[in-house]
Amino acid sequence: MNQNNDTQNKNIKENGSIVKKNKNVKVWQEGAAVKITTGELAGAVAREGFVASMGGAGMTPSELEREMRIAREICPDGEIGVNLMYVAKDFHNVARVVQKLGAKFIVLSAGYDSKILNCTGEYEDLKLEIIPKVAHPSLALRVLQSGVVKRIMLEGAGCGGHIGFSSIKNFISTEELVKLTFMRFATHLAKQVLGKNAPENEVQAFIEDVKNHRDDYRKKYHVPELIAAGGINETNVQQIIDNGADHIANCLIFTICKESNAHTNWKNMQFQADKRIFFESPVKGMIGSAIKNSFIDKYFELDDTGVYRFKATEKQKQATGRSIKSDFTDRCITKCMEHDFCLKYSKDYLHPMCIFYRLEETAVAGNVDDGIVFTSENLNYIQKVARVNISAKEVIDYIKKYTYGTAE
Ligand SMILES: Cc1cc2nc3c(=O)[nH]c(=O)nc-3n(C[C@H](O)[C@H](O)[C@H](O)COP(=O)(O)O)c2cc1C
Repeated sequence: MNQNNDTQNKNIKENGSIVKKNKNVKVWQEGAAVKITTGELAGAVAREGFVASMGGAGMTPSELEREMRIAREICPDGEIGVNLMYVAKDFHNVARVVQKLGAKFIVLSAGYDSKILNCTGEYEDLKLEIIPKVAHPSLALRVLQSGVVKRIMLEGAGCGGHIGFSSIKNFISTEELVKLTFMRFATHLAKQVLGKNAPENEVQAFIEDVKNHRDDYRKKYHVPELIAAGGINETNVQQIIDNGADHIANCLIFTICKESNAHTNWKNMQFQADKRIFFESPVKGMIGSAIKNSFIDKYFELDDTGVYRFKATEKQKQATGRSIKSDFTDRCITKCMEHDFCLKYSKDYLHPMCIFYRLEETAVAGNVDDGIVFTSENLNYIQKVARVNISAKEVIDYIKKYTYGTAE
């Protein structure tokens, strides 16, 4: 891997001994579906002292159970959790199953609502932390105001998988999202402490103090820690931490490791593609970040906002004023979503694709031209610094060097 000398040189020496910079920052390996970041990777990552999250979406409870056992065999005590969709069927049962097997947290991905935040107390009693993913500062503030969450994951537009913004023009970079959220939190605290009508100069002085004494304010006012994710690498990590991130998370670079469960064809594709594209997913019509392949070429077409949408849907709608069924329809075999919202979506012929089936087809079966290959903004970055089947330990040492200034 390339070493960034600049970052290395910032490696701080005091009285001759190396001192970690950003020493309180934890690094996360965030979850990837379907069946990419599973037990072996989570165990290997946690054994090296990073936080590991398995991608639970698209897995049955018994598959998750097996992977959790594998992770715990490799690393009995590390910080390991699972990334789950609240809209998936049996969320609470699955959460309890993984908790019994040693999961310490659940990262809530796409499609959760405030009902789950009301349950965090119950989960706290079980020692299972609920960590919501958020892509907007005002949503982060709402989570803070709920008063029940210890950590929030801020996922900027650089992330892979489903992106939490309604359109490309609303994308917020990870750097900006952290900055805006930190300021939103500090301003909220200032108003709470100084009163709504406090003079602007006092508010500004308070915010400056929060910036300089982050830990003190966090403890005193129970402010959740911010975990930043989405396209983080050595070029932006320091800025993201300086903007207010307490911890950082990576995903794509771990998915190409030898301990990752993804098929070699899938890993190779991450090195052959030159850029990512955005497509409309059947999961609530969210925007997904993927590699353009024959599947996308065949069934999707680019609209004027820069998003690939299902051909039959868009074309027919424009021509006839109503949606017409595509000749392509995936059959749902698992009914994995609560309230079958995917099925309702496809019944209206808005989107006749099963995302989990099409993700598994590429990542597990290796048919990379017959489904969706998720990727992130870090696609070109990993091509520069990593290789297919690199070890998780090598990736971790690399991240440690640019985050802490030392691999120790
Ligand atoms: C291949 C892939 C699959 C992903 N799958 C999921 C998922 O199932 N659930 C989820 O919440 N996030 C998912 N993500 C988002 C990641 O968890 C993570 O937050 C983000 O990609 C971090 O950015 P990075 O990949 O640039 O490091 C996925 C990302 C990638 C690259």
